[in-house]
Amino acid sequence: MTLPFDSRILDAVAKRERQGLTRSIRTIEAGNTPSLSYQAKTLTNFSSNDYLGLAADKQLSLEWQRGIDLYGNGSGASPLVTGFSKAHANLESSLCDWLGFERAILFGSGFSANQALLFSLLKEGDLLVQDKLNHASLMEAGMFCPATMKRFRHNDVEHLKRILTKSALVVTEGVFSMDGDISPLADIQKLTTLHSWLMVDDAHGLGVLGSEGRGSCDFAEVKPDILVVTFGKALGLSGAAIMCCENLGDYLAQFAKHHMYSTAMPPSLAYAITQSIERVRIQEWRRDKLNELQCEYHQCFSFLNGYVDTRTPIKPLLFGDNIDILHISKELAERGFWLTAIRPPTVAKGSARLRVTLTANHTIEQVRKLAKSIEIAMDKVV
Ligand SMILES: Cc1ncc(COP(=O)(O)O)c(C=O)c1O
Repeated sequence: MTLPFDSRILDAVAKRERQGLTRSIRTIEAGNTPSLSYQAKTLTNFSSNDYLGLAADKQLSLEWQRGIDLYGNGSGASPLVTGFSKAHANLESSLCDWLGFERAILFGSGFSANQALLFSLLKEGDLLVQDKLNHASLMEAGMFCPATMKRFRHNDVEHLKRILTKSALVVTEGVFSMDGDISPLADIQKLTTLHSWLMVDDAHGLGVLGSEGRGSCDFAEVKPDILVVTFGKALGLSGAAIMCCENLGDYLAQFAKHHMYSTAMPPSLAYAITQSIERVRIQEWRRDKLNELQCEYHQCFSFLNGYVDTRTPIKPLLFGDNIDILHISKELAERGFWLTAIRPPTVAKGSARLRVTLTANHTIEQVRKLAKSIEIAMDKVV
């Protein structure tokens, strides 16, 4: 018997195919280094989020192994049962000390931290206001939570002001993941200070911006009410935390289901994240190197069609058309570069792009070669 699920699945996949939007999972060796291997080819990787080059850092691997020696393998339970160890407590203290918050609540991923916050805090009759380009985890939770959700035009503070007709939870990313631009946090906070809460998801700003890599909020001299930080990007590992005040921390520990009913992250991972934070804070040379690469990128790319000037290691090249971009990405792979084509629905219709990301482990020469290859690929395809 054919159930409605069968046709639903087949139709949806076929539609994606027709639109040129099919995604595929590819098995990659060493996707966390500047050179990766795929199908026996070595390609320079400009698509990771490993901004500070810590994901394959050998010293950090040794720290993680030490964490396993100290704490064993899995956490064995959710945090409220027996899964919360000294390693988790140390990580929370280290985050609070670094980022200047009273509490840190740990999660297995940034996706679950964002959803846990919106689902546990918001009730019917509340107003949730989000930047239009916020991450899918925030948008999806906003659609399914009982609050009324409104979206303001990307980084448009005047539009936000018009929408903010009553107390609300205002949510923005610090650095936007697909555009690499920075939210006008200081201006947003002026609107939220008295009657609303400001929540910033700083997945892509942490480690990269601000003093000791404290992120977008430090960079903008803003302290939001809620800060979500993730460990899978500049920190080179995985997991996330919600940074907040004592009262909200107590509340989340009672009501954030993704925290309460999910196995705590392995204690060895919590230990490794704590060590990674130490490196991010003191190894300024990683941010200096990124800045150097960014200057080179600007020199080499600013005359290209689709170039966008950003202050972060996320560098979009906007093309708009879903088909051309796949051809360009394939042509670049032939020339030894891995650059993922980013297409709708990840980004808005008509704004398909190549998303170049720089990491502290790239070389100036690699950036120069990429620029030359993109120019040739664009001439061939466009
Ligand atoms: C802005 C933003 N928030 C949250 C997440 C989710 O974080 P995680 O990968 O830890 O689930 C991502 C991941 O891509 C992101 O870009």
